Amino acid sequence: MNMIEKKPLVLENPSLAFKSDVPTDSVTWQSPSNIALVKYWGKKDIQIPCNPSVSFTLSTSTTETRLEFEPNTEGRVSIEFFLDKVRNEKFETKIVSFLDSIVPIFPFLKQLKFKAYSSNTFPHSAGIASSASGMSALALCLCSIEKKYFNNLTIENEFFEKASYIARLGSGSACRSLYGGVVSWGEIAGVNNTSNEYGTCLNDVVHPDFLKFKDSILIVDAAQKKVSSRVGHGLMNSNPFSMERFRQANTNIATLLKAMKENDMETFMSITESEALTLHAMMMTSMPYFLLMKPNTITLIEKIWEYRQETGNPVCFTLDAGPNIHLLYPESIENEVNKFIEAELTKYLHDSCRLRDCVGSGPKNI
Ligand code: PMV
Repeated sequence: MNMIEKKPLVLENPSLAFKSDVPTDSVTWQSPSNIALVKYWGKKDIQIPCNPSVSFTLSTSTTETRLEFEPNTEGRVSIEFFLDKVRNEKFETKIVSFLDSIVPIFPFLKQLKFKAYSSNTFPHSAGIASSASGMSALALCLCSIEKKYFNNLTIENEFFEKASYIARLGSGSACRSLYGGVVSWGEIAGVNNTSNEYGTCLNDVVHPDFLKFKDSILIVDAAQKKVSSRVGHGLMNSNPFSMERFRQANTNIATLLKAMKENDMETFMSITESEALTLHAMMMTSMPYFLLMKPNTITLIEKIWEYRQETGNPVCFTLDAGPNIHLLYPESIENEVNKFIEAELTKYLHDSCRLRDCVGSGPKNI
């Protein structure tokens, strides 16, 4: 073994506190959601994944967060959180405990009184998790404060790497939303600068057609998930298949990245679909076991397979930790696939709800 063990990053920084003149200002970021191709399911320590993952960053499914701040004399973290202009105390409690946990990284957090105004481009009822877009937008706002007032993070790579690290502490998969295109998280043998602590953009090692891929998000059921991903990750600790799963994810990443480099669509589709089904198999084999697919999820999968068989068109699906289908296909067959969705799939969707998304270019400072 010649692997050099990487030391964990230490980001505690007592110098990030205002000495005088605590500012009143605001920062705003828009950040996208992402959809994993090789799934992260199972974690250890502080949000360290048990296996590496790879995702497409989305384009139209985004969160915009404006973080306003003024001097705070309370001596503790203080934030009011508004979702679509309405104060949301459930999120507020989660955000306070997240911000509390990162005070050693950003000591200025206790010196500022915050108001966060957040809104998602996707309807709340669409059943899309907003944690990746929301946490990455918040992490970017905090890094912008560090950059503007402490004159750090002026090198773009460092800025996004730190934002990715912070987003990961808030919600693991959020660390992949900091870059556009194809992004990994977790150490991948033979791929430079991959890390368990932050995401890495892989656009240089994949065929450019994948950076224009389409994702039609087919909403089967819009209800809130019965089992949170936090609980689902935890159940992997006792899942009898977990070790084999973590090993398989590493092999799948290597196979997927090779296929994405060579534009080998058959292999891309088979790894992507197998990963989606494996994720759900892990849920079904956990104890207690649970099932997040719905009957129409299966119906849609069968329709997609039939369509692929009949037309030869490279259309495949993936699933998040929920019942909704992400239908993935190259831009070149967009019109044909749209016709197929309208004619064959819409009738199985909740309120005929489908979101047209595609691989996007990453967060934007507003
Ligand atoms: O980041 P979390 O804790 O919400 O977990 C995300 C898990 C999956 O979405 C199912 C897979 C992934 O890699 O995004």
